Amino acid sequence: MRWGIASAMPFDMGGEAVAVPKHVAIILDGNGRWAKSKGMPRNYGHVKGAQNLEVICRDAWNLGIKYLTVYLFSTENWKRSSDEVDALMTLFRKYTKTCMKTARDNNMKVRVLGEPSALAPDLQESLAKLVESSKDNTGLNFQIAINYGSRDEIVRAVRKISADCAAGRLIPEQITEECFAGYLDTAGIPDPDLLIRTSGEQRLSNYLMWQLAYTEFYFTDVPWPAFTKEDLQKAIDQYNSRDRRYGGVKA
Ligand code: IPE
Ligand code: IPE
Ligand code: MG
Repeated sequence: MRWGIASAMPFDMGGEAVAVPKHVAIILDGNGRWAKSKGMPRNYGHVKGAQNLEVICRDAWNLGIKYLTVYLFSTENWKRSSDEVDALMTLFRKYTKTCMKTARDNNMKVRVLGEPSALAPDLQESLAKLVESSKDNTGLNFQIAINYGSRDEIVRAVRKISADCAAGRLIPEQITEECFAGYLDTAGIPDPDLLIRTSGEQRLSNYLMWQLAYTEFYFTDVPWPAFTKEDLQKAIDQYNSRDRRYGGVKA
């Protein structure tokens, strides 16, 4: 689907101009419960959830969001039944293909967060292709977290830092917050301004713990497959009512 041109101006919410967060991170939760409430199998929820992701990507861009990071599969999600994991992997294969076309049609740059080596080789390959083919695009920066866990990401960063120190490429005194952030999967990506978690749970579930240090959190009961552009606008509206102090004091 082609998206059209993003509004350069902040959108209008009841007469007042709204500041749009530059980077929105989403924990897409509630696919299974949503499907169950409709008397359908969990996988139906995942299929509808993936379709909704396409729609929300477009909506996010049209609202003026520049970076969108979504949690598709956590390092803990392997604990689910092999049937569900297999169905999710099949869906990710399809989704990667769709995403390739969406990226091409809409100038979207895709990056993948997480450790790919646990994924099937063909999926690793198509994710790498998706990243490579979209790397020069200048539209929406879209990050997909797949086999992602924040603790795993931090441990992998520490290993790389240790290897660089052992090889003499880095000395411990050079390890600053900025240097450390550069070893994370999100290197070069600004920290999220707004985190949205759908479907009622109020926890991080191992998502972006370093990057969310000063992010505003928004929780909604709406399950992911039913989450709409209006729900995204509500989250942005709520974000606008927050006072971000970063530890300082505002007059
Ligand atoms: C989110 O929906 C998708 C993934 C974690 C893969 P869930 O599958 O967690 O749905 P609920 O939370 O069980 O309803
Ligand atoms: C978090 O959702 C992971 C993703 C959305 C991919 P979960 O459904 O796995 O989280 P918990 O188990 O409720 O913490
Ligand atoms: Mg869940």
